[in-house]
Amino acid sequence: MISKIIGIIGTGNMGGAIIDGVMSKGIISPENLLLTNRDIDKANRFYDKYKTPVMGAEEVIERSDIILIAVKPKDIDSLIPILAKYNNKVIISVLAGITIDYFRNNLDAGIEVARVMPNIPSTISKGVVSISYSENTSDESREVIDTIFRSIGEVYNVEERMINISTGLSGSSPAYMFLIIDAIAKVGIDYGMDRSTALNMVMDTMIGSAMFMRDNLEIEADTLVSKVTSPGGTTIEGLRVLDEKNVLAGISSAIKTVIEKSFSMERKD
Ligand SMILES: NC(=O)c1ccc[n+]([C@@H]2O[C@H](COP(=O)([O-])OP(=O)(O)OC[C@H]3O[C@@H](n4cnc5c(N)ncnc54)[C@H](OP(=O)(O)O)[C@@H]3O)[C@@H](O)[C@H]2O)c1
Repeated sequence: MISKIIGIIGTGNMGGAIIDGVMSKGIISPENLLLTNRDIDKANRFYDKYKTPVMGAEEVIERSDIILIAVKPKDIDSLIPILAKYNNKVIISVLAGITIDYFRNNLDAGIEVARVMPNIPSTISKGVVSISYSENTSDESREVIDTIFRSIGEVYNVEERMINISTGLSGSSPAYMFLIIDAIAKVGIDYGMDRSTALNMVMDTMIGSAMFMRDNLEIEADTLVSKVTSPGGTTIEGLRVLDEKNVLAGISSAIKTVIEKSFSMERKD
């Protein structure tokens, strides 16, 4: 059970997912989770659901030990003047592109900061969450913050540079997974399968294949592929087309582009 007071600024998609995650897992008492949002009605919805106190941003910051910021990156500058009044707080930021140095440069060089990259499945507690800590973050803070994010997904502790790599591997990649699932299912639909059966069949195959791969982590992907292929069979024909159309090279290239763009968009000031 988390005994620290956690304040959440921004109760939109991601802030809301984290509130739902920690409350449904029962890892914090509602009175220790303080909420604020620009449109306060959006925060009040969580008071109605969980009885988590709702108040103005400055009061949340003043009363919290750890402040989780879940506003859009463009809105962070407007919060700095209030945050700067209370420099003894631990900051958690889920803001894409906002670096640990941004908080150290704008608040205090000695501040403890966790930079977090969740992905969209975090909103249904099936996320992948990469977390990078400023090197001075205490073990106690790390434990609390890891616990918060374990309530919405699998936590990966990484050095800060890897946050941009995670953006490619887990942050943006759900978009490609959705499209890959959809593209495969559409073929089934074209051949007369109903949409729901086709989509569910492909989604179950995606989940099952990932679980199979995890159970066989020591085996190279090519060897796993060989378990599904036989000379003159069907799968090998499909692999030939994938190769002809450079599909896998295209996917790699897309992920590299995301990572490079993430590095180029980072803000330190
Ligand atoms: N959604 C994702 O899957 C995802 C994944 C990774 C990272 N993130 C990060 O999560 C952050 C939030 O994204 P989101 O999708 O949750 O956006 P969102 O749904 O728009 O939520 C942002 C919330 O912040 C509130 N807000 C803005 N300025 C504020 C202020 N000064 N004080 C208090 N509340 C304020 C907004 O209130 P109003 O609506 O009233 O303006 C809104 O409810 C972003 O920085 C994004 O990079 C999101």
